[in-house]
Amino acid sequence: MKEYKRYLITSALPYANGPIHIGHLAGVYVPSDIYTRYLRLRGRDVIHVCGSDEHGVPITIKARQEGVTPRQIVDRYHELNKSSFEKFGIAFDIYSRTSSTVHYETASEIFKTLHDRGEFIEKTTPQYYDQEAGQFLADRYIQGTCPHCSNENAYGDQCEKCGSSLNATDLINPRSTISGSPPVMRETRHWFLALDRYEPFLKKWILEEKKHWKTNVYGQCKSWLDQGLQPRAVSRDLDWGVPVPLEGAVGKVLYVWFDAPIGYISATKELTPDWEKYWKDNDTRMIHFIGKDNIVFHCIVFPSILHAEGSYILPDNVPANEFLNLENDKISTSRNWAVWLHEYLEDFPGRQDVLRYVLCASAPETKDNDFTWKDFQARNNNELVAVYGNFVNRAIVLTHKYFDGKVPERGILSDYDREVLAGIPRIRMALEASLEQFRFREALKEAMNLARLGNKYLADTEPWIIFKTDPERVKTILNIALQISASLSVITMPFLPDSAFRLMGFLNIDNIPWEKAGDSDLITAGHVIGSGGLLFEKITDQEIEYQVNKLLAARDQNDKAGLSIAPAKGNISYDEFSAMDIRTATILGAERVPKTKKLLKLTLDTGLDTRTVVSGIAECFDPASITGKQVCVLVNLEPRKIRGIESQGMILMAEDPEGNLDFVSPGGSLENGSVVK
Ligand code: MF3
Ligand code: ZN
Repeated sequence: MKEYKRYLITSALPYANGPIHIGHLAGVYVPSDIYTRYLRLRGRDVIHVCGSDEHGVPITIKARQEGVTPRQIVDRYHELNKSSFEKFGIAFDIYSRTSSTVHYETASEIFKTLHDRGEFIEKTTPQYYDQEAGQFLADRYIQGTCPHCSNENAYGDQCEKCGSSLNATDLINPRSTISGSPPVMRETRHWFLALDRYEPFLKKWILEEKKHWKTNVYGQCKSWLDQGLQPRAVSRDLDWGVPVPLEGAVGKVLYVWFDAPIGYISATKELTPDWEKYWKDNDTRMIHFIGKDNIVFHCIVFPSILHAEGSYILPDNVPANEFLNLENDKISTSRNWAVWLHEYLEDFPGRQDVLRYVLCASAPETKDNDFTWKDFQARNNNELVAVYGNFVNRAIVLTHKYFDGKVPERGILSDYDREVLAGIPRIRMALEASLEQFRFREALKEAMNLARLGNKYLADTEPWIIFKTDPERVKTILNIALQISASLSVITMPFLPDSAFRLMGFLNIDNIPWEKAGDSDLITAGHVIGSGGLLFEKITDQEIEYQVNKLLAARDQNDKAGLSIAPAKGNISYDEFSAMDIRTATILGAERVPKTKKLLKLTLDTGLDTRTVVSGIAECFDPASITGKQVCVLVNLEPRKIRGIESQGMILMAEDPEGNLDFVSPGGSLENGSVVK
């Protein structure tokens, strides 16, 4: 394999329209952080860039929902997400944002270069337009039925149910997400990137040279390329975004997927004046960490842009992950079905590593995976506490108890001792091999295998029992246990940085170079270790119950929100309203209509006469309970026969989204026959 001089790690820029959740973390940021930390520990020249994706319809929709400006939305979530990442220990070299001046300049420049080279096709095409809102309906502003899976809530750019990428015109029964009304077609002018032109280049670059990419990534690319690429619009009619940097392009901004990946370049520029060596030198290895919904943009669209521009390198790898579900349900920001990072950090202070561990151990690397709070608890209690924490704690406590905290000398080694010592570097190398292939779960398992090895070694050799009879032997055992602990502090550093750092403190050691992990003499005899402490603590049933209840409350709210208030009807004239003759009336008697569930036959005193009305309220009201009640009745509704009974009017009822009914009742101060108007 090619030897690279330096690494450029990018993590997908999260939309600044909501907080970070565990799905983001497991899919992108935990693996990218592990990988970056690993490279740093190996002494590589590496930078890790990220930031907020602040353009696009997800932002403007959120702003509209809350009645604030897009700027207020992105400011809020940029700050929140930046600080959550920091507290969680995701060590970006820079967390920038796509509303920065540098970014506007960089994105505009690249657009202009491509434009001047003739890489765009300028086309006027009909697009959906909302007449009420006076706005073109780009991307998520339009919803309709997916032509592939019949999901009724597919967006103009994508169906979230089946994952298909869509054009707004593919949708069946399109509706505006702004006004809910059906849109009309209106002509508008846009710039299209002629992706079809890059097909030969992409086919060679991906299908021939990137056979080592993860199968999910390679497969998606292949299917795109097999279907044949179409020109894609790279501008939008919106007032939020990077303005199209061309004369006369009023009201046009760059499509968010044109400008956002350029954000990686802008962030690097902000980070270092030396940015070009990371972007324009073939000795740099660029790796994009993303989720699967971003594959086409990072493997086809962005590389096409970079290739067309000509002076930039392309990614060497794009280790995209699948999706993480939560308690068997798709994670969703809009449905509030998520574990939010900033809330986790508040609920579990100082326990970032537990979440990092669980998300890495069950990362959706090859297929979608599920996060459950029960599993979270089990992995903490049975793995981190019972294996890693327990082993290290025993080694440290026994060293204090028998040798005043001084690392004892090793004596004559048994075969078992030799085997254990030889196992340490083997584990480190297996871990490296896994990490190099972006197999993070496997790598973490290897790290835990070292803790397991140590735990088993102590359980098998039982120093606490043999100390009375053979203290010399115990010296050897604890020396070996401490060597294992020291190696653990090195190889768990990429995964569990906070715990690894504390372990170094417990052992009173400084940074050990990565390659040394596995040496038999990391800690020399006579060295005085620190006083120790607990690396991990049990998570109680109550803590888990609290989290589960929080989720159940969110589900409850979602169920309720699903039943939304009926949409407003169109306007009518005053005359149409006043044509209705509504009067106050008293229910004189009520009886069930035989063989029906819903119907009551009511006898009414309307002030004008006594008449019969059949009403569908039997499921909500008992006949006896409503007799004597004053109500409102539409008296000039054309009579009609219901189950053989002539119904002469209609009682006014209010109905909520769940179908609960209530009477529209006068206060009781007026005679029957009073006019309601
Ligand atoms: N904001 C996008 C998302 O959350 C990711 C953008 S990645 C970048 O899906 F390449 F555009 F930066
Ligand atoms: Zn679909």
